[in-house]
Amino acid sequence: MAEQKQIILTGDRPTGRLHLGHYVGSLKRRVELQNSGKFDEINILIADDQALTDNADNPGKIRENIINVVLDYLSVGLDPEKTTICVQSALPALHALTFYYLNLVTTARLSRNPTVKAEIQMRGFEDEGLPAGFFCYPVSQAADITAFDATVVPVGEDQLPMIEQTREIVEKFNKVYGETLVLPKAMIPENETQRRLPGVDGKAKMSKSLGNCIYLSDDAKTVKKQVNGKMFTDPQHLKIEDPGHLEGNVVFTYLDALCTDEHFGRYLPDYANLDEMKAHYCRGGLGDGTCKKFLINVLEETLEPIRTARAQWEKDIDTVYDIIRTGTLKAQERTNATLARVRKAMRINYFDDREIIKEWDKMLKG
Ligand code: TRP
Repeated sequence: MAEQKQIILTGDRPTGRLHLGHYVGSLKRRVELQNSGKFDEINILIADDQALTDNADNPGKIRENIINVVLDYLSVGLDPEKTTICVQSALPALHALTFYYLNLVTTARLSRNPTVKAEIQMRGFEDEGLPAGFFCYPVSQAADITAFDATVVPVGEDQLPMIEQTREIVEKFNKVYGETLVLPKAMIPENETQRRLPGVDGKAKMSKSLGNCIYLSDDAKTVKKQVNGKMFTDPQHLKIEDPGHLEGNVVFTYLDALCTDEHFGRYLPDYANLDEMKAHYCRGGLGDGTCKKFLINVLEETLEPIRTARAQWEKDIDTVYDIIRTGTLKAQERTNATLARVRKAMRINYFDDREIIKEWDKMLKG
């Protein structure tokens, strides 16, 4: 057998513009993976159908954010020549696969998915009633992943239960219908700071409703305002000479996630690196204002090129449209081929298998 191709599939729900948390936790690495040359195929799915599972009454929000998310992708350096960007709802093979996989999963198993459980609580579905589509979205995600024959799925930690469930579905399918589907592996961010960038207010996650995000498309003034106005440092660090603390100090959490030694050369040459800066802060004598100013410089260096690229792409929306259209057409071929393979394995490919009619004939005559 030919060596297994290395195929990436990952995706996002288009429910809002992407922010710095997305950048640190996934986008930056997607670009690195894309440019590593180590993968035969990289696919990114804009999971608009999945987004509808808890936004059924608001398709307009999803529609708006499809374009926002694509613009964010292109602005951070995802390159449509190397990465296929596609839209879930335009891939009918995914719907068909979902329908078959649903029969290989029990409702008891679905109820145990810890991420879905937490999301059900967060969304108040316990009281309101739980949409069946939302309850089943991990199965649709298994369809996403397997339809592309993905071997590697780069995701955040919260998505591990989805990959686990996908693997179970693959194993079950292959056991029942014969070796057909590729078993995927999750790839999660390497270190803690990448895994979870807190909101500017120190709350666990950046979230639109909390107003604690730095969006990739925010202008410089907004970024500065978020840092200066909302970011906590060390509440015990009242005078510059006081020793400072790093635990829960959001400025340093962000620096951990974003700054490099080169940034010190450019903006804060008193220190060679973050360790030296931290040591001084803990000893006392380094003011929070200086730290914030440095962070703002680091943020600007990261965000300015993204912002500029976005402004360019925004002027050329026809090209952006063409990029997702082309990507989606390519993905249609790809996922239709998997569906054909699946139907063949299940022997429900009635209209392209002459053997089936012969069998029927034999049965009736037999
Ligand atoms: N559930 C993912 C999220 O909320 C989005 C997603 C949909 C996805 N389909 C996928 C991620 C397939 C990886 C692979 O972030």
